[in-house]
Amino acid sequence: MKKTVLVSGGAGFIGSHVTVELIAAGYDVVVADNMSNCDLTCFEGVKKITGREDIPFVKMDFCDMDAVRRLFSQYSIDAVIHFAAFKAVGESVAEPLKYYKNNLISFMNILESGCPNVLFSSSATVYGEPEQVPVTEQSPRQPATSPYGNTKQICEDILQDTVKASGGALRGILLRYFNPIGAHPSALIGELPRGVPNNLVPFITQTAIGKRECLSIFGNDYPTADGTCLRDYIDIVDLAKAHVYAVRRMLDGKMEQGCEVYNVGTGRPVSVLELVNAFEKVNNLKLNYKFAPRRAGDVTAIWADPTLANEKLGWKAERSVEDTLKSAWAWELHLAGK
Ligand code: WQD
Repeated sequence: MKKTVLVSGGAGFIGSHVTVELIAAGYDVVVADNMSNCDLTCFEGVKKITGREDIPFVKMDFCDMDAVRRLFSQYSIDAVIHFAAFKAVGESVAEPLKYYKNNLISFMNILESGCPNVLFSSSATVYGEPEQVPVTEQSPRQPATSPYGNTKQICEDILQDTVKASGGALRGILLRYFNPIGAHPSALIGELPRGVPNNLVPFITQTAIGKRECLSIFGNDYPTADGTCLRDYIDIVDLAKAHVYAVRRMLDGKMEQGCEVYNVGTGRPVSVLELVNAFEKVNNLKLNYKFAPRRAGDVTAIWADPTLANEKLGWKAERSVEDTLKSAWAWELHLAGK
């Protein structure tokens, strides 16, 4: 029988790509979102890509336990992938309670629903400034530098503790994403940042299209080969596929521990300058950029050791950074109606 996966926050950037891949893999999907940080653009795109007009969509807030109960009584859910959360680092510093309330309560409500399989979207931010790179899942977590990062760590702990206490009734997977970038090759879904983008690739594409005047590269005096920071940029479709492998492992009863943790990255460090140069080259354009002071809170270098996900999930990042940067540009052009 077909299994049903609930994607909370399924109308957003990562959630919409995951919905597409789950449907392609033969799962039924229920999408739920409170639409606080997106519109229906991506959900409409998902319907077009999959050719499925009938994907159930529930507009709801996971902080509302009555709404969560109603959702779980309406649908028979085999697994939840939880994305519904606030994600702006700077805003979380200015409004910590907004972040703690929303990100923690919504996740605890999901766990209280009693669903036996829960996948949580964590982040490489839990590693802070790592002493050694690449980081493995055993690398120590560092104290979070923002309330946003702290909610990721706390949710990781909540899931671990709840799995432990469940006596085998609950299985959990924590996926730690590195830097997700790009868009679906159809250019029908992608990232829709509100206001001035915080993240590098949306800032690059908006500069290239003329919405922003100039990209500031934050810091060129880091102890790296070209002086700019190193990150592990993971293609959004590759990242989405990791969720399908992880959910399959849960639902097929293949897990070796109650709660498993996986890095989702390529294992390949790329500097900010390399990324900018690659964007210019593959899309055949010139980007207006300048070097600017370091951004507070940035780590110098972090990239994944993805061996565990490669071996246990059977997943591997496949798309080249060049193809990913082409897809990011195609999405920006699509948004501009070009
Ligand atoms: C990447 C690199 C910047 C913008 C953040 C969160 C993390 C995660 C993903 C999200 C850095 C440089 C950026 C710009 C620049 N979570 N940069 N000019 O900081 O690695 O990770 O996003 O939900 O938790 O912290 O990603 O894309 O912001 O930055 O030079 O205008 O690009 O300094 O070196 P980051 P990013």
